Amino acid sequence: MTANANKRLIIVSNRLPIVITEEEGEWQISPGSGGLVTALAPVVKRHSGLWIGWPGCGEEAPIDELLDRFGREQGFQLRPIPLSEDVIEAYYSGFSNSTLWPLFHDLLGHCVFDQNTWETYREVNHLFGEKIATAAAPEDFIWVQDYQLLLAGEALRSIKTAQTLAFFLHIPFPSLDLFRRLPWKIEIIRALMAYDLIGFQTMRDRRNFVNAANALIPEVEVVTRQRHYTLMRYGQRTVKVGHFPISIDFGDFSEKAGTHEVADAAWYLHENLGGRQLILGVDRLDYTKGIPERFLAFERALEKYPELQETVSLVQVVVPSRTLVPDYQDLKEMLDQMAGRINSRFAVPSWTPIHYVYRSLEKLQLLAYYRTSEIALITPLRDGMNLVAKEYCACSIEEKGVLILSEFAGAADQMARGALMVNPYDIEGTADAIHQAFTMSGEERQRRMKLLRDDVRRNDVHHWVRRFIATMYGARL
Ligand code: UDP
Ligand code: G6P
Repeated sequence: MTANANKRLIIVSNRLPIVITEEEGEWQISPGSGGLVTALAPVVKRHSGLWIGWPGCGEEAPIDELLDRFGREQGFQLRPIPLSEDVIEAYYSGFSNSTLWPLFHDLLGHCVFDQNTWETYREVNHLFGEKIATAAAPEDFIWVQDYQLLLAGEALRSIKTAQTLAFFLHIPFPSLDLFRRLPWKIEIIRALMAYDLIGFQTMRDRRNFVNAANALIPEVEVVTRQRHYTLMRYGQRTVKVGHFPISIDFGDFSEKAGTHEVADAAWYLHENLGGRQLILGVDRLDYTKGIPERFLAFERALEKYPELQETVSLVQVVVPSRTLVPDYQDLKEMLDQMAGRINSRFAVPSWTPIHYVYRSLEKLQLLAYYRTSEIALITPLRDGMNLVAKEYCACSIEEKGVLILSEFAGAADQMARGALMVNPYDIEGTADAIHQAFTMSGEERQRRMKLLRDDVRRNDVHHWVRRFIATMYGARL
């Protein structure tokens, strides 16, 4: 925030960027996972800001003490909004993750539409609005994150109106055709118009939102369309609507990937897997990530190109996520079965085709996988951005990695020139891409990876924040 150095940054998100756990009576606090946390933690740190959100644990934990300690270590403050189990079930597992999440990822078949969960969602968003109002000074810059808090800005405006209020949607915004199925669509668009700036990941998401607002609310009008944002008017308010592809702290990932500790861990991983080429998948356990389709594509590649047998292994890291939502539980079972079936079909005593790791990794391990895997197979059915794709390139410091990327990830807009692009529903095409990556020459790998690394380096998370804030305050870029 160079032009506005005296402003305090307040980030508001559903979840604080932490995980609180208890082991043998000892409470532990550690950084959380997920794209939102990875992208924003360095930003709040740099601005000694405040982060408001749900601590993600029950009320029995000594939350204030743990947050104080963590905040001191990390260099920013955290303010918790505790929520009861019933509320979490309806607001988080329910409306956020069984209605908005699948709808916004174009997966209507996973959607549940329920009046009760919608009402709890509205109440929680109002509670967030009240908490922000208590914490914020008039000159603060308040930046609300993601689909769990679409209505929080409107709730805040009904109490205090002075603050500069921005919103960023980390997931896609669906086409009008899909969005209009949502029974509460009008309330959601009206509420979003309470923000001064609404940011999306891609031009497509921005266009979808502008179309939806125009079509569903007659009083909304487009004032101007510029390259970086569309200016919209709604009654007395003007709202900027822009697109800002989120990124990672390239320097930090690249530097850490180059350390001796990571080099040793990387060497060990490769040795442990018999020195074969590694194909890496890293995802939260989520049906949007296309993991079953990826397993099928890998199976097809082994079948169609037998030279891949015993020479490559797929390491699929799956981070447990939203375990109370039934569709996530079903997916877990499906993946266990698929990995078992494919392994029993092809495995020999010295080679296992799929190494399926169901847990969150230590950062060192994750960096080692990124650095050492010859291929990253990132095939979401739809994804707001997909930071794993960018992290993989940042850590591929020897420039020998090949990125295979779904055309339906937000990251595709920036990475299509260097990656092998696939349609994740096209099992045959993805199998061919795996073979193409496997047989790609060293020079071609390096040429492609250089392009990817240069782009992620130039457009890192700090650039993302600068662009967002410059658009907010009307400064020149
Ligand atoms: N990640 C993590 N621990 C793990 C595996 C992954 O913290 O064991 C992080 C990873 O570094 C990345 C994020 O989780 O920053 C996933 O972000 P992405 O945008 O790819 O997907 P999301 O989970 O946000 O849908
Ligand atoms: C995605 C969403 C975030 C969310 C994260 C982890 O990145 O865009 O809003 O925090 O997934 O999901 P969880 O439900 O565990 O917070």
